[in-house]
Amino acid sequence: MKHELDLDQLSDHVVAADANDHERRTEASLRPQTLEDFVGQRDLVGHLRIVLGSARARNQCADHLLFAGPPGLGKTSLASIVASEMGAGFRVTSGPVLSRPGDLAALLTDLHDGDVLFIDELHRLSRTVEEVLYPAMEDLRLDVMIGRGPSARSIRLDLPNFTLVGATTRTGLVAAPLRDRFGFIGQLDLYEVEELTEIASRSAKLLDVALAPDAATLIASRSRGTPRIANRLLRRVRDFASVRGHSDVTEDVARDALTLFGVDEFGLDKIDRRILTLLCDQFASQPVGLTTLAHACGEEPLTIEDAYEPYLLRSGLMIRTPRGRVATERAYEHLGLQQRHDGLF
Ligand SMILES: Nc1ncnc2c1ncn2[C@@H]1O[C@H](COP(=O)(O)OP(=O)(O)O)[C@@H](O)[C@H]1O
Ligand SMILES: [Mg+2]
Repeated sequence: MKHELDLDQLSDHVVAADANDHERRTEASLRPQTLEDFVGQRDLVGHLRIVLGSARARNQCADHLLFAGPPGLGKTSLASIVASEMGAGFRVTSGPVLSRPGDLAALLTDLHDGDVLFIDELHRLSRTVEEVLYPAMEDLRLDVMIGRGPSARSIRLDLPNFTLVGATTRTGLVAAPLRDRFGFIGQLDLYEVEELTEIASRSAKLLDVALAPDAATLIASRSRGTPRIANRLLRRVRDFASVRGHSDVTEDVARDALTLFGVDEFGLDKIDRRILTLLCDQFASQPVGLTTLAHACGEEPLTIEDAYEPYLLRSGLMIRTPRGRVATERAYEHLGLQQRHDGLF
């Protein structure tokens, strides 16, 4: 069935565009399996414990859950944790894969009682597919049209109990009627360096890499607040250490590796740097609108907004003003550029 995916096939096309099949499988092996293993997002995890614990106590399915946040922060991991914490089956699909209402209907009628159905990139569901989802979420009901023209009629099918878990980069992108049908919406935020240090150390153990604590911190501080990036940098550092014959990864080894791979102190990638250079240089310190910026970078505005801006804003390299985006003093310093003072602001 092409509308259902394996968890390993779900890759974030935005940030993990360079991940090959092997990398994706390694990533899957690093996925936390229980809420206990899941580092950070303390409020969200606390709320989730209550929602899941209470459903378990009532011997019922958990309410439908929506997770929102930038790529690589743990939405897919949380979805699979929900299934395992509930002792439920886990079915995986994604918005763009469900192109026709029949695709979703086939998946829904194939569910077992209590299953967790995970729909990644929920905001990319088509309107007609969304409409199949409404009665399914609300009344465990599926209305199917049979035949065409005057003899067409609709039959109603009862569905087993299930929990829908949706993931999206931003709740605002999900149609309001769909969003309203979720009993719980969890927002994931960028991680702190301490949390990423813990994640890098945990992954190093799983990959059997001898990672010194300060090397873990160095990797964490260059991971753009994102666990997926921390794990990816760790793998590159491991590769470097093994090629250079270092059995232990010290801070120096990690720094040399990251320098070799062009990862700077802020962990900025090519697109991050392009955004900042455009703001500082080409647009001569004037506020720039999202669309203009995206075109100049050759990226979708949505990608810029969801995958790049959160970290640039949090690290104080860029600010958003009512008239557009502006690079800060810190960005000029980081890029080694001179700030011009003839701007409009
Ligand atoms: N809170 C966390 N604790 C430990 N590892 C995490 C956490 N969040 C994410 N990861 C790691 O980052 C990788 C990407 O997470 P994923 O759930 O696929 O993110 P998303 O679905 O939000 O893009 C996972 O393979 C996992 O190893
Ligand atoms: Mg995901």
